[in-house]
Amino acid sequence: EEMDFLYHGLLLPRETHSVESLKFADEFTFKDDDVVAATYPKTGTIWMQEILPLVLSGGDLTPIQTIPNWDRVPWLEEKRLAVVVDKLTSPRAMVTHFPYHLMPPSFHASKAKVIYVMRNPKDVMVSSYYFHQMAGFLKDPGTFDEFMDTFLEGKVLFGKWTDHVKSWRHTELGDRILYITYEEMVQDLPAALRTMSDFLGRNLSEEVIQKIAEHCSFKAMKVNTMSNFNLVPKVLMDSDKSPFLRKGVVGDWRNHFNPEQLAKFTSVIRKELENESFSLPWS
Ligand code: PPS
Repeated sequence: EEMDFLYHGLLLPRETHSVESLKFADEFTFKDDDVVAATYPKTGTIWMQEILPLVLSGGDLTPIQTIPNWDRVPWLEEKRLAVVVDKLTSPRAMVTHFPYHLMPPSFHASKAKVIYVMRNPKDVMVSSYYFHQMAGFLKDPGTFDEFMDTFLEGKVLFGKWTDHVKSWRHTELGDRILYITYEEMVQDLPAALRTMSDFLGRNLSEEVIQKIAEHCSFKAMKVNTMSNFNLVPKVLMDSDKSPFLRKGVVGDWRNHFNPEQLAKFTSVIRKELENESFSLPWS
């Protein structure tokens, strides 16, 4: 059996997604105080699974210390949501890799807020390359050069990076959506947390912001069993090949791209975004 299947033209892994889970997502009833972090894969999704409960609760450590991230802040489109949905307490936090146009009808009817996280696509691709090597439920990525073509053609999970970014830029969401980058979060996490908590209507003290920043740092998450995926069987995720929390830095692409690859990658991404009104914060 194939490891992936197509849903509205997007490749999804069978291990975590099914026809039923996608139907469940489509029929999911959003509440006005729900919060969703929308991300293209390998952009900081699990970081948001740490941040959202901390910010929404004003720094309560219980959720991040006692509930695995996939149940704490479930993916809208994955199988686990149906299992844990009744256990989620409001304000509920979720993550999604869906492009905007796959968000369910009730999301649009609600006032649920979205934080859209974007990351330099070169670092996204590098992170994804290692993830494909360690995740037993994903195809072997081949060589780095081969994977770059697959990535640029959009024959990867959740499709083309540029399509995802574009979809979330053309929304009717107004002040229901906040755009933030992985790079801003790495550069000044407390500032990013303040931006997010203001957006979510939480006025957190400096002390609480500092406490949250400590607990969702790369270092802290790396040793948190509820967040580092060490609870997952090795056949599904082999951290000896590459840990899920791999490097957590900006610019690792510099260690992987040769000049030809950089030129090709940059020209493809630029061309696909040339008519867009937003600009990318990277060269
Ligand atoms: S997934 O599979 O889509 O859910 O992956 P995702 O969580 O979106 O992305 C994984 C990358 O995010 C990095 N990460 C972090 N970086 C900095 N600080 C913190 N706290 C943090 N948490 C997760 C993780 O290390 C992956 O990036 P790489 O570059 O591979 O290290």
